[in-house]
Amino acid sequence: MTGDLLEGLAAPAMEPLAEGAVVLRGFARAEAPALLAAVAAVTAAAPLRHLITPGGLRMSVAMTNCGEAGWVSDRRGYRYDPRDPDTGRLWPAMPSVFRALAGRAAEAAGYAALAPTACLVNRYRPGARLSLHQDRDELDLDAPIVSVSLGLPATFLFGGLARSDRPRRVRLEHGDVAVWGGPSRLAFHGIDPLKDGEHPLAGRCRWNLTFRKAR
Ligand code: SIN
Ligand code: FE2
Repeated sequence: MTGDLLEGLAAPAMEPLAEGAVVLRGFARAEAPALLAAVAAVTAAAPLRHLITPGGLRMSVAMTNCGEAGWVSDRRGYRYDPRDPDTGRLWPAMPSVFRALAGRAAEAAGYAALAPTACLVNRYRPGARLSLHQDRDELDLDAPIVSVSLGLPATFLFGGLARSDRPRRVRLEHGDVAVWGGPSRLAFHGIDPLKDGEHPLAGRCRWNLTFRKAR
């Protein structure tokens, strides 16, 4: 038996979070170098930026997008925009490694293969956090969210359908993929302030790729 198989037996591959929500442990680990290379290409074409919330706060997570539509925030609100408001250009095309991974992860979690139209790329430096929120700007709420973690580990907060529901705290590591849909599609979620560290592939940061069917 190979080491990989033994490793697979030692840790359950699919960890339930809530009804309709799972973490696929290590699902993207083998392709992480290819994913990070694609992230570098995306951020070269559409540079990372700290968006401003409708309330006027600068987000600590730096963001960019690829695909047909990108999630943006400014004083006017949150929305999906087919163009990068910083440059007026279309967002870079979604790399095929991204698209394929999102489709497979949705299926592994028990959903129909996701055909994502949007990928939000989040970069966390130490101290960056994302407060509890729902992903509800997408037109298609039947499709699940597929969320890929790369680089430094983080504490994922996964709550219920009310902001006041106490969230579960789940450690997300390099290569883990969280999928939530169905009864969990509008669950509140967030990320605790990132702890400092050094990751062999990603350095002093965490990347998160969130795939959505935005429109
Ligand atoms: C998000 O909710 O957009 C990102 C979640 C994460 O960074 O894991
Ligand atoms: Fe989110």
